[in-house]
Amino acid sequence: MALTIRAMAENDVPSALRLICSAHPRQVLTEEAMRWSPGTPSRSETRTNLVAVSDDGTLAGLLRCLLTRDDGGTPQGLSYLASIAPEHLDSGVAALLLEAAERNFVSRGARTLLVGAADEAVQTGGDRFRQLAVESGYVLEESHQILELELARLSRDPAPPRLAEPVELRPLSSYRNDPRRIYEIDRLTTADEPGLRLEFTPYEEWLSGTWHHPLADLELSAVVLVSGAPAGIVCFTSDGQTRLESSMTGTLRRYRGFGLARHAKHSALLRAAELGFTHACTSNHADNAPMLSVNRRLGYEAVGSEGVYVKQM
Ligand SMILES: CC(C)(COP(=O)(O)OP(=O)(O)OC[C@H]1O[C@@H](n2cnc3c(N)ncnc32)[C@H](O)[C@@H]1OP(=O)(O)O)[C@@H](O)C(=O)NCCC(=O)NCCS
Repeated sequence: MALTIRAMAENDVPSALRLICSAHPRQVLTEEAMRWSPGTPSRSETRTNLVAVSDDGTLAGLLRCLLTRDDGGTPQGLSYLASIAPEHLDSGVAALLLEAAERNFVSRGARTLLVGAADEAVQTGGDRFRQLAVESGYVLEESHQILELELARLSRDPAPPRLAEPVELRPLSSYRNDPRRIYEIDRLTTADEPGLRLEFTPYEEWLSGTWHHPLADLELSAVVLVSGAPAGIVCFTSDGQTRLESSMTGTLRRYRGFGLARHAKHSALLRAAELGFTHACTSNHADNAPMLSVNRRLGYEAVGSEGVYVKQM
C-alpha cells in the first residue's frame, strides 16, 4: 500500500487524536489543543505533526517533531509521540516518519537529533519504535519513569509542611494579572531538573505557549506561599474531564526539604478528585530522587519508562 508522508492538516485532527490516544492511553490531549497555536510565534521552538496517509486516505501513523535549542542556542530536533495504527506496526510506517523528521530537522540546521520512545506498557508499538531508533543509530541518553495515580486511592489527609511559617496555596489563576512571578519560579526550578538542558523560553513565548495553552489547568495548578512569598508551584495540564498530567513541580532552593511540594501536590490532587478527575500521571527523570520520593509518597505507581535517545549527525 502506498503511503504519503506530510504535515498534519486541519481535517486530519479527529483521526490523528484517535490514533494518539490509542497508542498513548495516558496522554492528556484534546482536539482544541491539537488545533491551537500560540499567539506569539516561538523563536526557539517549531512544532510539526507529521502523518503517514494510506492511499485510501486513512492515517497509518503520526510523529510529533519539535525543533528546539539546547541552552547554548544550538538547534536540535526531537521526534516523539510516535503513534502507529495497529495494522501498520510492522509495515515500515514508523521508519518513513522518522526519516522524514530527520530530513526536516537537518535541513533546518539541527545536528543533534533526539527520539522519545516509551516501552510497550506506556506506548503501543513503543518497543518497536525503540528498536527502530537504536537501529537508526540513536543511543539511550536518559530515562524517565512514567507514574500514574488513581485518584480514588489518594489519602484524604494532605501531609502538613514542616515549617513554622504560615503556608498558603493559591490557584495559578489568581496570578492572571501577574504571571511573571510564576514564570520566574518555573525558570529557576526547571534549571535544577536533572536531564538534557533545553533553552528556557523567553517570557513572552512562555506566556503565549505555556500559560495560555488550552490544556494548562490554571485552577488546579497552584502557587505555594510561605509567609505570603511565592516559594513553589505545582502545575498540571488536564483534559477538563478525567485526566491530569503534571507539567511542572518546583520549589525554590531555599524552601526545599520542608514538605512543600508534597503538600501542594496532595492538596491539588484532592481538589481534582472532588471535581471528578480519576487519573493523574507524570514523568520523572530516573535520577530525580526528590520528585520520585514525593510522587511515591502520594501513591503514584510506576507503569513503565520512556527513554530519550540521541544521535549526532
Ligand atoms: C523536586 C522538588 C519539587 C521537591 O520539592 P520539595 O518542596 O523539597 O519537596 P518535599 O520537601 O515535599 O519532598 C522532597 C522529598 O524528597 C526527599 N529527598 C530529597 N533529596 C533526596 C535524595 N537525594 N534522595 C532521596 N530522597 C530525597 C526528601 O526527603 C523528601 O521526602 P520526605 O518528605 O519523605 O522526607 C524540588 O527539589 C525541585 O524544585 N527540584 C527541581 C525541579 C524538579 O526537578 N522538579 C520536578 C520536575 S518532574
